Amino acid sequence: MLFSGLLSLLVAGAALAQYTPPGFVPAVDTELVVKFGSKTITPGQSLGKADTGRMPILGTNDTALPGTYLFIFIDIDLPASFSNTGARGVVLHGMITGFKSSTMLKDGIYQLSTTATGPSSYFAPAPPAERPAWPHNYIQLLFLQPDGFKVPSNHQAAVNSRLNFNITAFMKDANLDAPVRANYFRQVNGA
Ligand SMILES: *[C@@H]1O[C@H](CO)[C@@H](O)[C@H](O)[C@H]1NC(C)=O
Ligand SMILES: *[C@@H]1O[C@H](CO)[C@@H](O)[C@H](O)[C@H]1NC(C)=O
Repeated sequence: MLFSGLLSLLVAGAALAQYTPPGFVPAVDTELVVKFGSKTITPGQSLGKADTGRMPILGTNDTALPGTYLFIFIDIDLPASFSNTGARGVVLHGMITGFKSSTMLKDGIYQLSTTATGPSSYFAPAPPAERPAWPHNYIQLLFLQPDGFKVPSNHQAAVNSRLNFNITAFMKDANLDAPVRANYFRQVNGA
């Protein structure tokens, strides 16, 4: 009884966070299709630096999305030595506005596209060397973009420097609802 209760909790937890790393908040259970060249990522997949040098193609493969979306790309494994909290921090690898979905499938996906490149352009992963080696989790989050979206002034410094970005506080201050889609991959120095 207790065991099956625990088991269903575990199963529910796993299902809920399928497209974000275990323990990451906000957890997302709906897929953002992320395609680097010909590689469509599966959640948690390891990718090398050569794979991720350029902004991936984003999309969905179940349904075309109806709104305008904000894409946020973060590394949640900034070494503590670079972080302002004494624990691992977050690096902002991109924040790009204005994504809209194609209404037609192309190569199996409803591609999301935008003419914007900011407020924070795509910054390719480059995890630093660490001993022991530490694979970084790189998370792609898609939010419905609020009307008149702007980077809140208290987050401008972190957005400019890309260091110590706080996604929880950012969501609150920028009035973002829970992400509608996500995905993630891992990358380690030297790969
Ligand atoms: C969407 O793509 C993923 C792989 O990226 C696959 O697992 C899933 O079945 C696809 N869904 C549809 C509806 O094609
Ligand atoms: C991020 O912001 C939230 C909400 O303001 C706060 O509770 C949390 O401590 C912050 N996290 C870090 C690592 O600073």
